[in-house]
Amino acid sequence: MDAVTEIKRRIDPAEYIGRSVKLSKSGRNFRGLCPFHTEKTPSFYVFIDRGSWRCFGSCGEGGDVFSFVQKRENVDFREALRILADETGVELSARAAEQRTRSERLSSIVSAAVDFYQQQLAGENGAEARSYLADRRGLTQETIETFRLGWAPDEWRLLRDYLLGRGYTDEDALAAGVLHESDSEGAPYDRFRGRVIIPIADDRGAFVGLGGRILGEGEPKYLNSPQTEIFDKGRTLYALDLAGPQARESGAVVVVEGYLDVIGPWQAGFRNLVATMGTSLTERHAARLTRFASRVVLAMDPDSAGMAAAERAGSLLLDFGSPEGMGAAQRSAEAITADVDIDLRVAPLPAGKDPDDLTREDPEAWGAAIENAAPFARFLLERLIAGSRGDSPLEASRIVDRLRPVLLAVRNPVERSAHIQSIARRLGIAERAIADRLRVEGRRAPAVPEAQVAPARPPADEVLLSTLLHNPGLRADLRHLPADLFLDALDREILERWLHDELEPATEDDDDPVALRLRNLRARREPLLSPAEARERASDLIRHIVRERLIQRQSAVTEELAEAERTLGAGRVTEVAHLAWLGALPSEETLELAQMAIEQLELGLSIHRREERDAS
Ligand code: UTP
Ligand code: MN
Repeated sequence: MDAVTEIKRRIDPAEYIGRSVKLSKSGRNFRGLCPFHTEKTPSFYVFIDRGSWRCFGSCGEGGDVFSFVQKRENVDFREALRILADETGVELSARAAEQRTRSERLSSIVSAAVDFYQQQLAGENGAEARSYLADRRGLTQETIETFRLGWAPDEWRLLRDYLLGRGYTDEDALAAGVLHESDSEGAPYDRFRGRVIIPIADDRGAFVGLGGRILGEGEPKYLNSPQTEIFDKGRTLYALDLAGPQARESGAVVVVEGYLDVIGPWQAGFRNLVATMGTSLTERHAARLTRFASRVVLAMDPDSAGMAAAERAGSLLLDFGSPEGMGAAQRSAEAITADVDIDLRVAPLPAGKDPDDLTREDPEAWGAAIENAAPFARFLLERLIAGSRGDSPLEASRIVDRLRPVLLAVRNPVERSAHIQSIARRLGIAERAIADRLRVEGRRAPAVPEAQVAPARPPADEVLLSTLLHNPGLRADLRHLPADLFLDALDREILERWLHDELEPATEDDDDPVALRLRNLRARREPLLSPAEARERASDLIRHIVRERLIQRQSAVTEELAEAERTLGAGRVTEVAHLAWLGALPSEETLELAQMAIEQLELGLSIHRREERDAS
C-alpha cells in the first residue's frame, strides 16, 4: 500500500481537522467556521464518508486532509505528506524507518526509566520523596500519576542494572541520556541520583528526557537530561502533550518557566500551561505553540529575569528575533501583519509569586491575572517607560521606535489606534507624531507615492540566499528550487550558480554586480546551524517567500481585472472571458484581458486536476 493511502486509512479527518477548527456535529457530518476566511456563520463542512472538506462560503475551498494541511500550513504536497506521515507514523522511506526505530528505541529507554522511577517512588525507598511531593509541594496522588513523577534513589547503578536486565545496552542508555559516562575506567552510572524525577515528553506523549529535582536545598536544583538525538530543550515544551487539548479547546496557551509551574496549576484546574524549562523561548518553541492556540499568554516569574524573558519571548513570537532586532526591523507593515497571527499577552503576577505558589494560594488571582493579561504592546510600553532615562522628546521617540514593530503587528486598526492613544498619553506626545513615525518605515518617508518606488529587495529573499550560501549542504535538498522565487535578477543568477555549484570564490571586482552582491551576502552574519536546523530555516523562508509572491500575484490580477471593469464595465469583462473561453477570438482591445482571464481559469483547473490526482 502506498503512503498516501495508508495515511488516509489511519487518519480520521474530522478528528484531525477538528484539532484546529472547532467543529460541531451536523447530521452525519461536521460543521464549523471556515479557517481560511473570516465568517460569522459556519459554512465549513467535513464529510465523514468521503473523508473530505469544503467551505460553502465565500472562499469555496475544499479537498482532502492533504490539501487541508497544505492550505493551513502553507506548504506543498510533499511537505504535507511528510507532516501527515509523521502524525500517523507511516514510513515514507527506509531511511526514515531506520531513524525512527532508533528514536523509538531511545525513547523506550527513557520510558523504561520513567517506569522504574515511578516504582521507586511508590516503594519503600520512596517515602521521603513521597512526603516531599505531598507535604512540601502539596501534590495529590492523582497529579503525581498524571505527570508520572518518580524517585531516583541516591545509588550509583540502580537504573543501569534495571535497564541491562531488560535487554538494553549501555551504549543506548547513554545515548538516551539516562546514564552518565564514567570518568575512570568504570561502567556508566545513573545520571539521576537522589532526585525527584519529572518525565519530559514530546507533543505526542513519547518520553524524550527527564528532569530531576533535588529534595529541598542544594545545587544544582534541577538536573536535566542532556541534549540527545531525541531531546532538544530548544524544541521541547514541557507538558505540551498534556496541555495541548485544553489549549486548542480554549484557544489560549500559557507559557511558564518551570516544571512545577505547570504541575501546580494543573492540580488547581488550569490545564493549558507549558514550560520552557528555564531556557528562553526559541523560534522552534514559538512555531510549535502557535499551532495550538492563537492566544499565547506569557506568565514568567515576576522578577527581572522573568520580565526580560517575557520581552525576549514576546519579540520572538512576533518574529523580530531579539528585542534589539526589533528596533532595526526594516520590514514593511504588510509583511509583518501578514506574518503574525497571534494574540500575544503578558500576565502580571504579584511580586514574589510564581505560578505554582499563586495557583495554590489564590487560584482566583491566577485566573484574573491570565484573564487580564496585557497585550504585549502595552507590556512593552510600560517596560520601556520604566527603563527610560528621563522623559526627553528624544527618549520618547526612541521608545516609539522600539514599539513600532509591535504596533505594526497589531492587526485590528481600532486596537492599534487605542494603543497609539495610550502611548501618546503616557509619553506626553501627539498621537499624530506616533502615527507618522509608524508610516516612515524606520527610514525617511518616501518622497514619491509608495507604488512608484522601486520595490526594495525583500529581506526574506536576502536571508534565504545568504542561508543557502552559508549552508552548501542544502544543495541536494533544494535542487528543484525555481530561480524565479527571487524577484531580483542578480539573486536569480546567484541561485542558479549556487545550485550548480558554480560560484567562484570572493573576488574584489566591484564592477561585476554579481560578485558585489555575492560579497555582501557572504558578509552577512549567519548563525551556525546544524544541517537539520539549516533545512528548517530554509524551508521556513521559502514558504514565507512563496506566500508573499502568491499574495502579490493575486493582488496584481485583481487590480487588473478591477481596472478592466472600470473602463469596460463589469458585465463586459465576464462576457469577454466567457466568449474567449468558449473559443471566440477576442477583439484587439480585449485581447490581453481575455488572455488573463483564461490563464486564471486554467490555473484553477490545473490545481483542481492536481488535487484530484493527488487524492486518487
Ligand atoms: P526555577 O528556579 O524558577 O524553579 O527554575 P521552579 O520551577 O520555581 O522550581 P521550584 O518551585 O523551586 O521547585 C525554572 C526552571 O528552570 C529550570 C527547570 O526547568 C525549572 O523548572 N532549571 C532551574 C534548571 O534546569 N536547572 C536549575 O538548576 C534551575
Ligand atoms: Mn517554584
